[in-house]
Amino acid sequence: MDIFSIEGPVKLSGAITVNGSKNAALPIMAAAILAPGKSVLKAAPNLSDITVAGELLSQLGCKVARDASGAISIDAAELDNPVGDYEIVRKMRASICILGPLLARSGRAVVSMPGGCAIGYRPVDIHLRGLRRLGADIKLENGYIVAEAPRGLTGNEIFLGGPFGSTVLGTANVLMAAALAKGKTIIEAAACEPEIADLANCLNSMGAKISGIGSPRLTIDGVAELKGFDHTVIPDRIEAGTFMAAAAITKGEIHIKNCRPQDLMAVIDKLRQIGVIVEPENTGCTVARTGPVRPADITTQPFPGFPTDLQAQFMTLLALADGNSVVIEKIFPDRFMHVAELSRMAANLRKEGPTVIVSGVKKLIAAPVMASDLRASAALVLAALAAEGTTVINRVYHIDRGYEKIEQRLNPLGAEITRESV
Ligand code: EPZ
Repeated sequence: MDIFSIEGPVKLSGAITVNGSKNAALPIMAAAILAPGKSVLKAAPNLSDITVAGELLSQLGCKVARDASGAISIDAAELDNPVGDYEIVRKMRASICILGPLLARSGRAVVSMPGGCAIGYRPVDIHLRGLRRLGADIKLENGYIVAEAPRGLTGNEIFLGGPFGSTVLGTANVLMAAALAKGKTIIEAAACEPEIADLANCLNSMGAKISGIGSPRLTIDGVAELKGFDHTVIPDRIEAGTFMAAAAITKGEIHIKNCRPQDLMAVIDKLRQIGVIVEPENTGCTVARTGPVRPADITTQPFPGFPTDLQAQFMTLLALADGNSVVIEKIFPDRFMHVAELSRMAANLRKEGPTVIVSGVKKLIAAPVMASDLRASAALVLAALAAEGTTVINRVYHIDRGYEKIEQRLNPLGAEITRESV
């Protein structure tokens, strides 16, 4: 098991390049199932979650390979085992997004129900509701979702909103299934995340007929067959936002390359409120802080609102503000595993249900801390870069799920992160 030893405080400066988006690559890899042929995905990051997705597709019967350039080829000509096994699904919840494409392609899909998650209660009831509206017969057997549509799926009007707004992977599942359904489907309250737009654009390149991309109302005219894709995934806006917070918390200046400011408007707006300079350019932006961290309130929302996947990183930045901030988590109300760990580093945080009052402190102090989930762990890395002393972060595998070799990319900017196996 790897740990990180991180020296602080440091000041980051220089340029860093953002990788392709994990959360766009995962559903797009599942989309390959829809076509009885070969698909190629470019710019997918080298992350354990992407590897697990490859294992899952291989288990279904796909031939999956990654070439020297990093391009992933997926040949889905043969799908001889339409089962998403618990042993793989328990490693990565996003495995659920094979359900829709597998059902649409084979008329039958058996996928393990995802289990518990560190960031809170994450049901898939809306996914199932949407697929049932397309005519699927769905039941639960021994922890497995068994979905059947022997005569194929039929287009329908589907409201996909839930108690916390839209669902990202729920939209992906229903969208992919509707692409091969007979007739027209309208998805209302669809997720508008850039990752869903990237998936929809990829599906259209396969021959699907999707309109309203980027809006909460998607219209899909089903087609009889799709062909393989050759697609380059969009940059990872959450990785970009994490690097922006790293520049801000270390009072540094970073030029972030290969990021799309249009995917980060709410984040850039918040950074400016906090007193951070953000200068967007064509294919990136420069982020710098020269003055104090100003307090600000954050409420997480579905896109284009402030992303829940940056809540922990920005709470860490606001822990050093000269005043009080209020952070409200409206997507995953229990997503606060980082609060106790940041408190160990002398942050002054008071949690009340889905709200944390962040009372700014002058400095953070290094301490041994425990990574718990992907974004909480990224927040601990940011805290350690700003804290006085040597911070040790345990269970680094959580970070590797979403950030490729983060130490090798931050150390050239002045970070002092050492990875050790214990
Ligand atoms: C995606 O998860 C992302 N994962 C998450 O990123 C991200 O936090 C989340 O969207 C929200 O932006 C991937 O793309 C692989 P949701 P997803 O369905 O699709 C409730 C990261 O750090 N809900 O949009 O699983 C749900 O409980 C990960 O990279 C239902 O009630 O999230 C939550 O409260 C973590 N019933 C809300 O909706 C359902 O059937 C939004 O969840 C589905 C969801």
